[in-house]
Amino acid sequence: MASKIFIFDTTLRDGEQAPGIHLNVKEKLEIAHQLAKLNVDIIEAGFPISSPSDFEGVKAVSKAIKDRSIAALARANFKDIDAAGEALKNAANPVIHTFISSSDIHLKYQLNKSREEVLEIAAASVKRCKKYTDQIEFSAMDATRSDKEYLAKMYEIAIKNGATVLNVPDTVGYALPLEYSELIAYLMNNVKGIEDVIISVHCHNDLGLAVANSILALNHGARQIECSVNGIGERAGNAAIEEVALIIDTRKKDLDVYTDINIKEIAKTSSLVASLTGYLIAPNKAIIGKNAFAHEAGIHQDGMLKDRSTYEILKPEDIGLSASKLILGKHSGRHAFAKRLEDLGFMLSEAEIEKSFERFKLLAEKKGAISDKDLKAIVQNEIRETSEYFKLNYYNILSGTNIKSTSTVGIEINGKLFESSYNGDGPVDASFKAIDQITKLKAKLVEYVIEAVTEGKDAIGSVKIIASANGVEVMGRGISTDIIEASIKAYVDAMNRIIEKQEVE
Ligand code: KIV
Ligand code: ZN
Repeated sequence: MASKIFIFDTTLRDGEQAPGIHLNVKEKLEIAHQLAKLNVDIIEAGFPISSPSDFEGVKAVSKAIKDRSIAALARANFKDIDAAGEALKNAANPVIHTFISSSDIHLKYQLNKSREEVLEIAAASVKRCKKYTDQIEFSAMDATRSDKEYLAKMYEIAIKNGATVLNVPDTVGYALPLEYSELIAYLMNNVKGIEDVIISVHCHNDLGLAVANSILALNHGARQIECSVNGIGERAGNAAIEEVALIIDTRKKDLDVYTDINIKEIAKTSSLVASLTGYLIAPNKAIIGKNAFAHEAGIHQDGMLKDRSTYEILKPEDIGLSASKLILGKHSGRHAFAKRLEDLGFMLSEAEIEKSFERFKLLAEKKGAISDKDLKAIVQNEIRETSEYFKLNYYNILSGTNIKSTSTVGIEINGKLFESSYNGDGPVDASFKAIDQITKLKAKLVEYVIEAVTEGKDAIGSVKIIASANGVEVMGRGISTDIIEASIKAYVDAMNRIIEKQEVE
């Protein structure tokens, strides 16, 4: 009988650790709700001790999502574990995921501890987790570069002290598929009590092998895969959930395993995470890239027209993609708008619908026909809006070939309007400087990316900005058919997020 593979999603933890990703609690909740729809088994919601906003994120997800297991990460020490236990207090099925390094390299350079000392810490830590939950995952960090006998001993101790899941991380993404699956086989044969726990795999993608390593490990008894949406995570990221789910779904007969992932939710989940994290998806990315279902070569197109199976092993509809339809325009009413959003799978509050509808009307006035992609861009932008300490009221630009660009910006703070004009190296630079004059945040621009999210000359442009000030780094986003406006909105959004983050941290 086919075996069930548990999907442990770490988008909100390992994914959120990727450079330049900054999700606030509302965004984490939005992603968590979508992960629940995707039907992952476990949502790793964060690393509570690492920051107050991580703690709040885990707490909020634990409160909101009752039909999934919610996991929180903790290093192997009581302070981390107590924070994880506290953040998970309201979870219906809490999992504490505790970890300590097992390789000699990490023991020497990172922990500065002997093998025996580390075994004692592992034992005490797993025991401590029991104070909060019976669901305990233990990870031996850098497992793939560890001495096998020592690793087996560490896992045996973890089981003895109450671990229910043993995770085998390829922390640095070094292992080869055969090597990794042999390590799983070795552990299956050499760890006493292993038959009573679940073996989990957590592979990083430094050599592009994260998914291959995870899948091959299933042949030797691994029953849980840790992965993230769009493969985001530390450095080159983690195994991508969409690839894992589609490999298992497409080849389930050969692999003799299945997952409970609702693959129809993949496209939506991927686009939500890309939009909220600002991590763009390469056009040729497996499953979710915009060319994943595009057939360009004549011979391929010819074959496809005769029979889709000639060149297609997956259908776009399988992952919830539908051809973009032009459905709404400036005469469409609020009811039709709300219904279309519901059909697209958005669950919005009345206030969010109202705000999105106002934006929709403005855009429809400029563009005429509004596609599903436009709608998604509008809504995802509304959802991620932060509390507006700085409220953009207006801007005016003077720019051209023979004049220095000048921007005049009006921003409201607590109901009072402030205006500033500034010269700059182009209209965007001038606008950012004018905004800086008003906010007085002395912000530093770390990254600035423009992307067209819809097609055509009147496409919606999305601007992503990473900015830092007063020791916090944030991501801001703005959308508009005018990219100067999108840039100004993104910058103001980033300034609001700096204020918001300073309040939490
Ligand atoms: O990659 C890793 O080793 C981790 C652990 C915390 C499981 O993310
Ligand atoms: Zn990791």
